[in-house]
Parts: sequence; C-alpha cells; structure tokens
Amino acid sequence: MPPYSQPPDEGIDEPFQAHSDQVAEIIHRAIEKAGGAIDFSEFMERALYSPGWGYYMTDQPKLGAGGDFITAPELGSGFGSCIARQVEEVLEQIDGGEVFEVGGGSGALAHSVLNTLADRDALPDRYWLLEVSPALRQQQKRRLGALGSDLASRVAWTESLPEPGFRGVVLGNEVLDAMAVSRFRIVDDLPRRLLVSSDGEDFYWALDKPDHDFAAACYQRIGEDRLEEGYESEIGLRAEGWIASMGERLEAGCLLLVDYGFPSREFFHPERSRGTLRTHSRHHADENVFKRVGTQDITAHVDFSAVARAGTGVGLEVEGYTQQGAFLLSLGLLDHAADKTQQAYLQATAEIRRLTLPSDMGELFKVIALGRGLTSLLSGFALQDHSLRL
Ligand SMILES: C[S@@+](CC[C@H](N)C(=O)[O-])C[C@H]1O[C@@H](n2cnc3c(N)ncnc32)[C@H](O)[C@@H]1O
Repeated sequence: MPPYSQPPDEGIDEPFQAHSDQVAEIIHRAIEKAGGAIDFSEFMERALYSPGWGYYMTDQPKLGAGGDFITAPELGSGFGSCIARQVEEVLEQIDGGEVFEVGGGSGALAHSVLNTLADRDALPDRYWLLEVSPALRQQQKRRLGALGSDLASRVAWTESLPEPGFRGVVLGNEVLDAMAVSRFRIVDDLPRRLLVSSDGEDFYWALDKPDHDFAAACYQRIGEDRLEEGYESEIGLRAEGWIASMGERLEAGCLLLVDYGFPSREFFHPERSRGTLRTHSRHHADENVFKRVGTQDITAHVDFSAVARAGTGVGLEVEGYTQQGAFLLSLGLLDHAADKTQQAYLQATAEIRRLTLPSDMGELFKVIALGRGLTSLLSGFALQDHSLRL
C-alpha cells in the first residue's frame, strides 16, 4: 500500500456519501448502545467489516489501478513466484502439506504461487483461502476457477481457521495491517485508551478512565522507553490473538507474513508521536479515520516485535525477519526479468524496482516467518536476517 500521497480534495461522490452515512449510522447506534463511547478497535472493525456495509464487504473495487490501493501481488507475478519458492522449501522440510492463505484479496497471490509451484512440480495437496470479504471471495473464485483443472481442483475456500494439526504454510500479505487496533494516549505517564464517542452526527476522540490492565498491555509492547506526555499510538491485540490461534493450530511448517511495519523500538519511536493509523482511498492516504466512513480503507502499521512474541508465546520459532526487498532477492526475484521479450522485460524490471527499492516497498515492508518443526534455515533470509532487532 504505502508509499502514498495526501488526498487532493475533501470531496466525496454522492452514492459514496449515502453509503458512508449508512455505515456512520451503524456506528452511531453502536456507540449509543454502549453508553456513549466504544473502543477504537470496535469503530475500525465496524467501518471495515460491518456485514453488507463495511469497507471490505461491498462490491466496490479495492485493489489495483481502478481501486483504492495496490499491493505487491497486484504488480505482477514476481512477488508470488518468490513466495512460492519459499513455500516449496518449507513443504519439502516437513514432507509435504498444504497452503492456507488468509485475506487473499483478488486471488493474485494464489494465482502466481500455484502457477510457479506447478512449473516446479511442487504443488501442495490443497490451497485453502480464508477471506472475510464476500466480494473478494467471488473475485478469487473467478480468477482461480480459470486456472487449469489440475490447479483449480486443489483450491478450496473455508470460513474458519484450520483444525489443530495443520501441516504446511500459512500465507498472509497485508492482512495484519487490516486487523482492528486499539489506540492510546500517554496522560500523566500512563497509557490511556482512546475511545470514539459521537453526538449522533460526528465522531470524536474521548479519553477512557485510567485502566491499569490496559496500561500494562501497552507497556509490555512499548518496552522500557519513556514516551512523552500526549504521545499517541496503537496496539494490535486482534492481530496478536489471531497469530496465537493460528500458531496453536500449526503442527509443522510456518506462518509467512508480509506487511508494512517495524520492530517495537521503531514503532514506538519518540518521533512517531501520532501513531500509524492511515486511511486509503483512490490511491491517496490520509489520517482522518472519521471521514468517508465505510468507503475508505483504515490500516495501521504492524509492530513486528509483538507479532514475534505472539508466535513464540505458543511455541513457534522466529525462522527469520527481514525487509521485503532482501527476502525477494534472496529467493531469486531477478530471475523474473530473465529470458523475456523487450516489452515483458521492461514490465518485469519495473515490478522488481517497486518491490525492492527502499523508496518504494523494499524496506518499509517486512517478512516474518514463524515456524514449528523446520529442519534448516529458510532461503528467504539468506541475504539478510534482522530477527535480533525484534
Ligand atoms: C489490504 S487487503 C490485502 C489483500 C491481498 N492479500 C493482497 O495482498 O492483495 C486485506 C485483506 O485481508 C482480508 N482480511 C482482513 N481480516 C481478515 C481476517 N481476520 N481473516 C481473513 N481475511 C481477512 C480482507 O478482506 C482483505 O482481503
């Protein structure tokens, strides 16, 4: 998703306005029912996932040039072909297994992973997709249904996490950043929860009363550094809970997660004093989460130290943590431009630049592998492994 530019204007088209009013109304009612304020994570959850109305629950295009943002798998097949090589290596180490992709978007990643694994004669027994958005699930079905029958017959959709005893690779690209976060502000040296309140028309931030359990949860993630009065940021309790549930179900293999974010020391850097919440609409980013509710994406960067701790807490090992550029280059991304006609070569090199340049997705995006039962180092972390920074 990032890098990005600021929005050019404040306008919103009429049908979007009506939709946004409807989502806002759902949230105003929830706030009223809760007695005047809700946690920000509930606001974000409802704005993105309210059945039938939330941002991800409608048919409006989200991904790609005609949507709101672009992700690595949408740029071409280079990203997916490298992920496939890493998947192949993990499946070899555990004597075969399945792939379980969470939040597969348009199906672009599944498409290139399956094609690459087929070319390398390394197809998994089953490629599962778990997608909460009905519209994106339909898009995935159309796209993957067009694969040859041997590939298409291996793809299946599910609405729940795998059963315990899962063996294989769990994939998630830009899924953690789409999970609802709680916000805090430092007041009198104590992290206090930021709630969302409403007057029936507009939304406002409201400070919760001191809550020592919540403050302790924040301090566990912030670490020893003292944050200034008024400092605001987020903690991703849902993403951490999700990783722990997934990790408990994993008997052998790994969770391979790609997203934008930092280790906690950088995440809670004194200069990042307004946190990392962003909205995305028509390829522009903004910070006003109370605007265009339900018609714009809301995301937060990922605290990878917290992600690692959620995994190790259920017995997983950090197999590697690195920047996306280094990960993809370790897995042969440059081969993607080899043996191509001039036009295809130009496209492939443009894709490689976007995926790897520090000014684009190469450094802000990170890859983490949390594994169980793996026998040797993973090739994606051969050029660079920053696990010790977590
Ligand atoms: C930013 S999009 C990324 C899509 C895709 N992975 C890509 O890279 O193009 C986030 C995706 O995560 C999905 N999602 C969010 N929370 C989820 C959850 N708890 N379980 C499954 N999918 C989820 C959304 O519906 C959406 O498909």
